[in-house]
Amino acid sequence: MKTKFVCVVLFAGLLGLHACKKDAATALVRVPQLPEQTEKYAEVASGTFATGNLTINDHKATLGRVLFYETQLSVNNSVSCGSCHIQSKGFADIGAVSIGFGGGKTSRNTPSIANPATQTSYFWDMRENNLQNMVTQPIANHLEMGLEQPEYLVAKLKQLPYYEELFTKAYGSSEITTARIGDAMSQFVAALVSVNSKFDRNLAAGNTEFNELEAMGSDLFFNKLPCAGCHGGDNFAGWGSMAENIGLEEHYSDPGMPGNDWITGEERNGWFKVPSLRNIALTAPYMHDGRFNTLEEVVEFYNSGIQPHPQLSFILREGWNTGDQIENGFAPPSGGQPLRMNLTPVEKDALVAFLHTMTDDQLVTQTKYSNPFVLTSYE
Ligand code: HEC
Ligand code: HEC
Repeated sequence: MKTKFVCVVLFAGLLGLHACKKDAATALVRVPQLPEQTEKYAEVASGTFATGNLTINDHKATLGRVLFYETQLSVNNSVSCGSCHIQSKGFADIGAVSIGFGGGKTSRNTPSIANPATQTSYFWDMRENNLQNMVTQPIANHLEMGLEQPEYLVAKLKQLPYYEELFTKAYGSSEITTARIGDAMSQFVAALVSVNSKFDRNLAAGNTEFNELEAMGSDLFFNKLPCAGCHGGDNFAGWGSMAENIGLEEHYSDPGMPGNDWITGEERNGWFKVPSLRNIALTAPYMHDGRFNTLEEVVEFYNSGIQPHPQLSFILREGWNTGDQIENGFAPPSGGQPLRMNLTPVEKDALVAFLHTMTDDQLVTQTKYSNPFVLTSYE
């Protein structure tokens, strides 16, 4: 776990060692420490592309923040959403896979969360399309938190004194329901708005903020290479949401998105959600299985390593042409060989430098997105 605790008891201990020792031994509890003035989530989010149709309420998002970092949501009180979705890592995790409540491993890499309200499908295989269901899913039916019964979850939260006030402020009464839990958490998750990267500043300043290497990388990404054909839109996550096979393997062990290809009718294999590239420099390792440790490795894969999977996206085959494809609606060249980009070392560096411009320092440092819990003793 990457959460940081401020041990209030320890400070007290410096002043009166004897008393502290006794208190610390009897009852140490984890409680949220929130500012008197409710944090502003709605303000930052409104007027940007990043909130979709969702209206954010500061009290609901505040409750959602507490729930996001609440380890009591897991069956043995050890794991919270924030254990795997780590703020300083763009709300992704540091391992190829993440560790759940009983030491169990997730089957896929933990994705970062940024501007989720702009998306219409969630998870690597796109199995969920509703943000509220999606945020309660990790609790309800993932191995990672171990709580199968939503009623049990409600009963657990009722035991915790600080929720009464938080639910009342958010919903007008202290009643705890799974619907409210899902709603509040989705408000916080939707408030994970990332619009303050160098990329955004450069765009706002009419292309004057990038250095030479970043500008070269941007030109490669948007014009010379097919990257933006998939990582398009404000969130670099595909237009709305899309899944593609990028030829990581010739035969995928994880089949990815279920169902049949809508063009050929074949059963899909190796189709995964096009992930957002926001904060990508912070979210290593990469891909659904965390196989690449660095952005350099990812770029080298696209440059020279794409495999000839029968369902490889036509966009990553030789013969693809942005202009023709988009302007004239040409049929995709079928059966083309995997694209070889033949990038020079400088071009590879430029792509990596460009990917680094997507880091949003505010999202990953602001207190309002951080773990509010501190360890303290009972009064
Ligand atoms: C043990 C680690 C772990 C915990 C705890 C966890 N997650 Fe996740 N989260 C994952 C993994 C792994 C995935 C991807 C799973 C997949 O695609 O099959 C994921 C996916 C997501 C996504 C989808 C992102 C996208 O763009 O598709 C969101 C949002 C999310 N989690 C939010 C949450 C919330 C909210 C909680 C707490 C209720 C939570 N997670 C708890 C590991 C975790
Ligand atoms: C055909 C669509 C497509 C194209 C074109 C494409 N990507 Fe991707 N990209 C994806 C998909 C899908 C994934 C996730 C694949 C997986 O995990 O199996 C991905 C993953 C990535 C990741 C890792 C993301 C993460 O969170 O782990 C990076 C970085 C990336 N792409 C950058 C690029 C760059 C740079 C280019 C251009 C050279 C590019 N992509 C071209 C679809 C595409």
